[in-house]
Amino acid sequence: MAKKDKIGIIGFGNMGSAIGFALKAKGWQLFIYEKDKKKIKDLKGFKVASSAKELIESVEIVILAVKPQDTRQFLQTNKDYLKRKGNLLITIVAGIPARLYEKYVNNIRLLRIMPNLAAKVKESVSFMACGRFCKKKDSGVGKRIFSLVGEVIEIKEDLLDMVTAISGSGPGYIFYFMDYIYRSAIKLGLNREQAQEMVLQVFKGATKLAASSQKDFHLLVQEVASPRGTTDAALDVFNNANLGGIIYKGIDAAYRRAREISRLFV
Ligand SMILES: NC(=O)c1ccc[n+]([C@@H]2O[C@H](COP(=O)([O-])OP(=O)(O)OC[C@H]3O[C@@H](n4cnc5c(N)ncnc54)[C@H](OP(=O)(O)O)[C@@H]3O)[C@@H](O)[C@H]2O)c1
Repeated sequence: MAKKDKIGIIGFGNMGSAIGFALKAKGWQLFIYEKDKKKIKDLKGFKVASSAKELIESVEIVILAVKPQDTRQFLQTNKDYLKRKGNLLITIVAGIPARLYEKYVNNIRLLRIMPNLAAKVKESVSFMACGRFCKKKDSGVGKRIFSLVGEVIEIKEDLLDMVTAISGSGPGYIFYFMDYIYRSAIKLGLNREQAQEMVLQVFKGATKLAASSQKDFHLLVQEVASPRGTTDAALDVFNNANLGGIIYKGIDAAYRRAREISRLFV
């Protein structure tokens, strides 16, 4: 892939824009096509295409960042242009299997990549699976693009729904936990600023410690929780309410949803 290769992003929402800004910062020529014109109002440094067709015809690499429910419609409308141009299509859409893209566009060079929202701060981990007709150099292109927003790991497609439930959705689970610790701090009487700062630092410190110690997470829990101490009191409540079991159930629901998407929208 050379910098003369143009990249197009279809769907400039949370993820499309995170990837777009990272690429733009490195000097790539970028085309955008976004349905919701409010999202690209005042956008500078990007070429805004007037249709998906125009974008597909202008670039070598297309990144598809629309919602799963919009994917089939996109393929139905644009399959002939993709066939004619022979672009590399990189899709970050959750749940939709490679076979749907391959059904609409014979021999399409396809990469399915599952990043996460930490791409906005270049701390994503992106899992990449190659479609049937993707060439070795295409996976190199995928690695090069997504390494601009974090780490890239190549896997088999059948693992992608599991990865989606853990890593794709993962920041959402952590923000949920952060939000409830923050609300608890306010309830106890801390002001908003103190509470916000404290929660951020606790997560940052705990992540750094976990990464540097390399101990199993449950052992780290024990290191904080001395018997009959304060952490222990909170953990007792969590365990009695079966919070661990609820987390298992939640993540299982995310996994089942990723699998269901392939049934609903294919
Ligand atoms: N958000 C995450 O943390 C995350 C992580 C990993 C993967 N993903 C995947 O990334 C994809 C995008 O997620 P997101 O959170 O960025 O969604 P988003 O913020 O809703 O962005 C998608 C954008 O695409 C637009 N759009 C829909 N159909 C279009 C079309 N045919 N042409 C051009 N634009 C179109 C939508 O406009 P309208 O709103 O007007 O429809 C919306 O602005 C999803 O498939 C998701 O599974 C997301």
